[in-house]
Amino acid sequence: MSNQLVILDTEEAVGIITLNRPDKLNALSPEMLAAICDALEGLDASPEIRVIVITGSPRVFAAGADIQAMAQASAADIEAVNTRSYWLRMRQINKPIIAAVSGYAFGGGCELAMQCDLIIASETARFAQPEIKLGIIPGAGGTQRLAKAIGPYKAMEMLLTGEPVSAQAAFDAGLVNRVVPVERYFDEAKELARTIAVRPPVAVRMARQALRHGVEHTLQQGLEVERRNFVSLFDTQDQAEGMQAFLDKRPPKFKGK
Ligand code: COA
Repeated sequence: MSNQLVILDTEEAVGIITLNRPDKLNALSPEMLAAICDALEGLDASPEIRVIVITGSPRVFAAGADIQAMAQASAADIEAVNTRSYWLRMRQINKPIIAAVSGYAFGGGCELAMQCDLIIASETARFAQPEIKLGIIPGAGGTQRLAKAIGPYKAMEMLLTGEPVSAQAAFDAGLVNRVVPVERYFDEAKELARTIAVRPPVAVRMARQALRHGVEHTLQQGLEVERRNFVSLFDTQDQAEGMQAFLDKRPPKFKGK
């Protein structure tokens, strides 16, 4: 299935969203953000899908918010367009999302990658928050998630200079999980997705929720969610199956229950 702005594919339990606005380097206009949210929500609701991959093209993941759409805007206009609502919708997705990034991940593109749970980068990937060069700052998590991902000093340099960092530098700083040759990044992301897709889905959801909660709250609050989720998993069939399969020395058959 495809609409103009994103292409939606599925490969068994993996849903794939490909950003598809090549003439504008996948600039994230409100329409593009809406298309991404619709695609994510569709895959999140689909029982066959366990993991989602978001990608662009080898040249560009996304070059940020649509500058053309913002150039003449006032603060009131920006509030009225309310792109924040799309970013909030993305945060509600319950399945793991992997960003497969090659080329530019600039501005909102970097923020979109950081909104994901895992980031696979090609050697040609470049990450930047260049908003400062336009007289603005990131507005979709860039000042916050970047600092949490790579620490306040490296993040501050990216925010105040607007200069890009290479895939390797992003890896060294802890922003990306793996850097692979450009011919491999998409397959690598799908392979990682398939590995997670065979894990018990309720436990995957609980682990992801606990980690994300801890990142966004205090350690104590994160530990509380972890414990609650840990205990609740003992009421799942998959816990019984996972442990019995280990004792029987056979592979588990998880049902997502
Ligand atoms: N918003 C709107 N259009 C964008 C865009 C954006 N964020 N990024 C690129 N485009 C458009 C360009 O205007 C150009 O359109 P045109 O062909 O109609 O003139 C087209 O995409 C190709 O971009 P171009 O700049 O010619 O490609 P390049 O390879 O020379 O440079 C970048 C690539 C990513 C370095 C450069 O496009 C760039 O700096 N983009 C803006 C990044 C940014 O500041 N993002 C944060 C926005 S808040």
